[in-house]
Amino acid sequence: MKKIELSSLSFNPFFKIRDQWALVAAGSKENFNMMTVSWGGMGELWFKEVTTVYVRKSRLTHEFMENNDYYTLIFLKDGNKKALQTLGTKSGRDMNKMTDSGLTPVFTEEGCPTFAEAELTLVCRKLYHGDLPRESFTDDALFEKCYADGDMHTMYIGEIVAAYAD
Ligand SMILES: Cc1cc2nc3c(=O)[nH]c(=O)nc-3n(C[C@H](O)[C@H](O)[C@H](O)COP(=O)(O)O)c2cc1C
Repeated sequence: MKKIELSSLSFNPFFKIRDQWALVAAGSKENFNMMTVSWGGMGELWFKEVTTVYVRKSRLTHEFMENNDYYTLIFLKDGNKKALQTLGTKSGRDMNKMTDSGLTPVFTEEGCPTFAEAELTLVCRKLYHGDLPRESFTDDALFEKCYADGDMHTMYIGEIVAAYAD
């Protein structure tokens, strides 16, 4: 795993997260959690390169996102879909994700969690977090489709402060 420049990356940002899936992780060596995501974005905002991720309030990862200044967006190498399935269907409340994910935790220079199986890790410093209030939706059908059960997303925008690739 070595530090890289974002300018060296060449992938389609529209389909990278959607099709490959990623992990969002937050916490420390002693206490971290992660979950699978397929919604999110990467781009430019506030003169910075950023990622945006959406974490529902019911997720254990939500607590970790709230309580930490950094999160990592992690893309695993091919062959790790089973781990992504598990981490996307089981909560850290029902399994020990630190020890039982089948992945090998490693930590970035910034002390953020990632995995030896990662092909790309984006270390993000939280810049903004906010809920998505009902009254702000201009498309009512979309709201009903995605939030009928009231389990709302919190949006996190984070500055990419380091990128690691393998
Ligand atoms: C392909 C896939 C994509 C997912 N994308 C998201 C997402 O973007 N946001 C979200 O809140 N949950 C998403 N989930 C669900 C969480 O990963 C899942 O609820 C997970 O078990 C939460 O774990 P936790 O409670 O340990 O945080 C996704 C699940 C899968 C399988």
